[in-house]
Amino acid sequence: ATQPTPADRFTFGLWTVGWQARDPFGDETRAPLDPVETVHKLAELGAYGVTFHDDDLIPFGSDDATRAKHIARFTEALKETGLVVPMATTNLFTHPVFKDGAFTSNDRGVRRYALRKTLRQLDLAAELGAKTFVCWGGREGSETNAAKDVHAALSRYAEAIDTLAQYSIDQGYDIRFAIEPKPNEPRGDILLPTVGHALGFIAQLQHADRVGLNPEVGHEQMSNLNFVDAISQALWQGKLFHIDLNGQHGPKFDQDLVFGHGDLVNAFFLVDLLEHGPLGGGPTYDGPRHFDYKPFRNEDIHGVWASAAANMRTYLLLKERAAAFRADPEVQEALEAHGVTGLAQPTLNDGESIADLLADRSAYEDFDVAASAAKGSGAVRLDQLAIEHLLHAR
Ligand code: GCO
Ligand code: MN
Ligand code: MN
Repeated sequence: ATQPTPADRFTFGLWTVGWQARDPFGDETRAPLDPVETVHKLAELGAYGVTFHDDDLIPFGSDDATRAKHIARFTEALKETGLVVPMATTNLFTHPVFKDGAFTSNDRGVRRYALRKTLRQLDLAAELGAKTFVCWGGREGSETNAAKDVHAALSRYAEAIDTLAQYSIDQGYDIRFAIEPKPNEPRGDILLPTVGHALGFIAQLQHADRVGLNPEVGHEQMSNLNFVDAISQALWQGKLFHIDLNGQHGPKFDQDLVFGHGDLVNAFFLVDLLEHGPLGGGPTYDGPRHFDYKPFRNEDIHGVWASAAANMRTYLLLKERAAAFRADPEVQEALEAHGVTGLAQPTLNDGESIADLLADRSAYEDFDVAASAAKGSGAVRLDQLAIEHLLHAR
């Protein structure tokens, strides 16, 4: 079925459909969207939930009464539609106060202010039942190595994330943190630029068990990396806490296209991995399918909603194609024949010692190196089978 329902667990950020399309060269092309209208429209389209930065819902600088009013209207819309808030995040990038960073600003006052702004949003996230809190450090970085001590900045970054995790433990919140890597834009270079960097960073945290990733398709592709491989490693390390789905055409500015409207082959293998797990068996992703994209700047509000629907429909179409790929007996036969599924078998026998391996003549002295080297991999056959399923030719 390609008609989305809440069971598909599709979620959207308020800032995605709500993007007014201001860019570095031009003014906004669309009117602001009322979050209440967004909730109703997304529910109508079949979404499961909505996510937001503090400032998406409550304009920066609002007094307490205004803040409460915005939250009350939003909560009412959630109640009316049944939409949930599985994730929330903080805007630590729009206001000029964050121009040199937030958790890693050279100004200690800004660092403390950023922590307070985030703790406040964490309280609201818990109140609304969110299970994941995303940290995207868009301004954490620099344009020159002369002005940022990256060694110290990483220490301050770790201090901030551990402080948030500690607070959430102290408050008894059932919330995990998900770091979102991005290589550049808006900063010349952003800290924790890729999934790999972020995984390395998380391992150094005091509360590493509470911290994972929110990888975004386009952000890895901006670095010319294979997103499916990044997600595979995140799953392997038990760190795929959340995901930002969108599209990107290779290394250039962050396009935030509709999911699948960039590298479609990679999107096919991504949906296959999320839905079915690794080819040789293993964990799948059971969190929300979150779209973080931007409707084209030259679209009106009808185009906005058409693009929201396009994300979900494209995902569901790819899900159908991936299911057909996995169910095809020829694919299964080829995966086995070419050793793809066999990779899941440990290299040493059960209970085999290193001495046993050293004594096994078939592993070395009698191993037919030439015959093994001459064998084809069958990869092209498998690739074509995948492409034919993607094109619905099978
Ligand atoms: C981007 C980022 C942002 C973050 C979002 C969460 O496209 O540069 O994806 O959209 O995901 O702001 O904080
Ligand atoms: Mn992006
Ligand atoms: Mn994102």
